[in-house]
Amino acid sequence: RLLIIDFGSQVTQLIARRLRELNVYCEIHPYQNVSDAFLKEFAPKAIIFSGGPDSVTREGSPRPPKAAYELGVPILGICYGQQVMMQDLGGRIEAGESHTAEFGRAYVTPTEHSTEFFNGWFLDATGREQVWMSHGDHVAEIAPGFDVYGTSPGAPFAMIADLERRFYAVQFHPEVHHTPNGATLYENFVKIAGFTGDWTMTAYREEMIAKIREQVGDKQVICALSGGVDSSVTGILLHEAIGDQLTCVFVDHGLLRLNEAEQVVSMFRDNYNLNLIHADESELFLGALEGVSDPETKRKTIGKLFIDVFQKYADQIEGAEFLAQGTLYPDVIESVSFSGGPSVTIKSHHNVGGLPEKMGLKLVEPLRELFKDEVRALGHELGLPASFIGRHPFPGPGLAIRCPGEITRDKLEILRKADAVYIDQIRKHGLYDEIWQAFAAILPMRTVGVMGDGRTYDYALALRAVTSVDGMTADYYPFTHEFLGETSTRIINEVKGINRVFYDCTSKPPGTIELE
Ligand code: XMP
Repeated sequence: RLLIIDFGSQVTQLIARRLRELNVYCEIHPYQNVSDAFLKEFAPKAIIFSGGPDSVTREGSPRPPKAAYELGVPILGICYGQQVMMQDLGGRIEAGESHTAEFGRAYVTPTEHSTEFFNGWFLDATGREQVWMSHGDHVAEIAPGFDVYGTSPGAPFAMIADLERRFYAVQFHPEVHHTPNGATLYENFVKIAGFTGDWTMTAYREEMIAKIREQVGDKQVICALSGGVDSSVTGILLHEAIGDQLTCVFVDHGLLRLNEAEQVVSMFRDNYNLNLIHADESELFLGALEGVSDPETKRKTIGKLFIDVFQKYADQIEGAEFLAQGTLYPDVIESVSFSGGPSVTIKSHHNVGGLPEKMGLKLVEPLRELFKDEVRALGHELGLPASFIGRHPFPGPGLAIRCPGEITRDKLEILRKADAVYIDQIRKHGLYDEIWQAFAAILPMRTVGVMGDGRTYDYALALRAVTSVDGMTADYYPFTHEFLGETSTRIINEVKGINRVFYDCTSKPPGTIELE
């Protein structure tokens, strides 16, 4: 296994991700925990020093244990990790000045040397590589035994190595997107270290299960299950680890899609035999939303009630000490800069705002290191049906924000049916997986139509479908006219209460994905 010593970079987890993509098992440990004894026990096959915010020129700045250099294993230092390695081995670092600091895109060019580690680099016609730099300090003199393999205008020692000892160090961050060919360096590094790339999600599952057991012991855990991929994978993983010590609460706020509550409940009860409380609180939620038409008030009303309801059910579970949450790495990265750091402030948009703090429960977050696609892979590994894993995202406030203006039971009923026809159409045409998110919204207006020989005066429906990578930006999906015509006809024929259908062709920005 490979050890990543974390010096506090915002992107340390991305290194782990690149390694998992190469099917290499790694663990991240904060530098404070990595002592000589720890190293001996861990017996890494290779080590990576992450970047970090500190300056090696400051006294008392983070260090790896000296023993790291004496294990005879390959080491890769990144950014701060490079500087620390140089200082430890006899080089010299200069503190940052404005003309030597570099932030953002830069280009490195090769020197006359070459080595395995940089194989696959500098293939561009210009003979240079785009990299992403983010450093104030820089190496002013390299340590004995090292040679320079690549330079950039701001970092003459951008890429260095001591081939004999198999120590490699770069000033830039190969793990980020903006170093397009960065993964190749990790690939070369793990090859040099002798990894065969045989680690898989199966192993990850086993490791997580062991960790959960260790953390939880014989205590009770509760988990809010929404039916989304993240909370489902969390629930199932916990269930595998601790069985009946887990109770899941599925809060049904009455704003779910057609048959959704039944599907979620039967899937978890029947297939997984999981302790599940189906908290049908739709009357409570819909009552509180009566007369509310402002989008933010809707969100706040639902968010607050959710906490109250969850608390009520959690109180019934005797001795619950832990709360399991499906927090993913992208949720963590914006709110905490240190992987060994204290627990995270939860963002209200992503999770159920403030649940843990109010309840005084300890957190179990088994997906904290994973990205969405990895969670899907883990779900697959756990036997979740593909149709479930690939489901489009669905917002916490549910249909409330797909019913602009005032929410009524009538409108919800119509919307559920229309949405189901729309999604059925998308599936029938084999488009579901190409689309990031698709849904119908019922508009707060009635329009006149003619059906048979009669006049109708019914609701108008908006259809939305977008492509996106992360939901931050999105493009509307270019359906064919045939598809749109056929779908509109089907909805108007099959759903009483709708007599007009619009397709929303707004991208994000300037629109948002949801209408509210
Ligand atoms: P927007 O509408 O902001 O949506 O472009 C981006 C993504 O976030 C989802 N979304 C929400 N999810 N609570 C949630 O849990 C919310 O209040 C909320 N609002 C939007 C939306 O469905 C899309 O995937």
